Amino acid sequence: MENMLVTGGYGFIGSNFVRYLLDESDYEGRIINVDSLTYAGNPENLAGIEETYGDRYVFVKGDVCDGERMDRLFDEYQLDSVCHFAAESHVDRSIVGPGAFIQTNIVGTFNLLEASRSHQGQVELFHHISTDEVFGSLGKEGLFMETTPYQPNSPYSASKASSDHLVRAYHETYGLPVTISNCSNNYGPYQFPEKLIPLVIQNAREDKPLPIYGDGKNIRDWLYVRDHCTAVWTIMKNGKKGETYNVGGNHEMENIRIVEIICDLIDALPHMNAKPSRRSLITYVKDRLGHDRRYAIDSSKLKNDLGWVPEESFQTGIEKTLAWYLAHQEWIDRVRSGAYQEWIRDHYEA
Ligand code: NAD
Ligand code: DAU
Repeated sequence: MENMLVTGGYGFIGSNFVRYLLDESDYEGRIINVDSLTYAGNPENLAGIEETYGDRYVFVKGDVCDGERMDRLFDEYQLDSVCHFAAESHVDRSIVGPGAFIQTNIVGTFNLLEASRSHQGQVELFHHISTDEVFGSLGKEGLFMETTPYQPNSPYSASKASSDHLVRAYHETYGLPVTISNCSNNYGPYQFPEKLIPLVIQNAREDKPLPIYGDGKNIRDWLYVRDHCTAVWTIMKNGKKGETYNVGGNHEMENIRIVEIICDLIDALPHMNAKPSRRSLITYVKDRLGHDRRYAIDSSKLKNDLGWVPEESFQTGIEKTLAWYLAHQEWIDRVRSGAYQEWIRDHYEA
């Protein structure tokens, strides 16, 4: 893996992954980050990387929906591996406007698979990043296994399920060397403040309502983002081609509990007024359409076969996350303002 294409490297998980590969892992090659810079892609997430790593990091502003462009990149940069993060990632947005999800998540993945197929021999690995949401919703008992049948319930999860099937099919049909990971909910630095944890941190600090969908008892399985990055790199290095690996934190929690924990942590900060408690900001709102009740992942295949071990507990992970958001108010202000989109236009669309 000397020339790795990372798609969506300016998003939440993609940027954490690029930093992890360059700053911490044993990867010695070059990263070509292709990102179209949607509202969720932010060059500031990798500030300093170009200066620090010189030729080992290249950014290309490009859209995975542009198949010819993707194909040309494989020649231009002699790409020999792909780690495909780029996606529309927010379930609520997929309910309001599914079209972009079909284009980026399905057609975009298809384009990258086709480009990889036309460079077969050159490409030694196509790693596809996916989600536990493809499996649908669990009852009170049980865990998602790699063998759990797919039953996606939102346009987002259906588009990710489609892309997973395409990746698998390119392995079976064309022998493309692929691996797939299906991960649970991530949290940590650089997550766009539309997702539950950064949204609640931000609203709680600003004394704004904390919206809880439905009865707040939906359950997600939370994983600190760096642990997802170590899992992806473990699979890329040692995973068996054609296989899928589940990745999860083993930290199931009801949404309401997450929100209470964040409220209590913020109340306890020395410079914050805790009376009344921020819990009083909790506001139950209309439920998300098709809201999956419970996700929980069994990662024992990844742990037993490849020796992956997550490092953070939920307590340590949420404390680090809160500390990061407290220290990066300007980042939050910019991603929430139009100024950031103007900056992108000035820098990349001149
Ligand atoms: P994100 O929304 O923060 O980032 C997505 C990135 O992809 C952005 O940089 C965006 O600009 C880029 N992008 C979007 N459309 C593009 C296009 N057409 N061409 C090129 N670039 C494009 O997403 P995230 O939360 O970092 O998720 C990354 C991946 O991980 C996704 O595939 C998602 O399905 C998967 N995933 C996310 C989670 C989670 O909890 N966030 C959990 C499991 C899996
Ligand atoms: O499970 C993996 C998935 O996790 C990823 O594939 C997705 O890309 C990622 O966005 C995430 O999806 P969720 O829908 O689970 O994440 P979100 O942060 O949007 O919501 C988490 C839970 O909190 C969910 O049950 C809905 C609820 N929620 C969310 C928001 C934004 C609220 O109650 N209020 C809110 O304001």
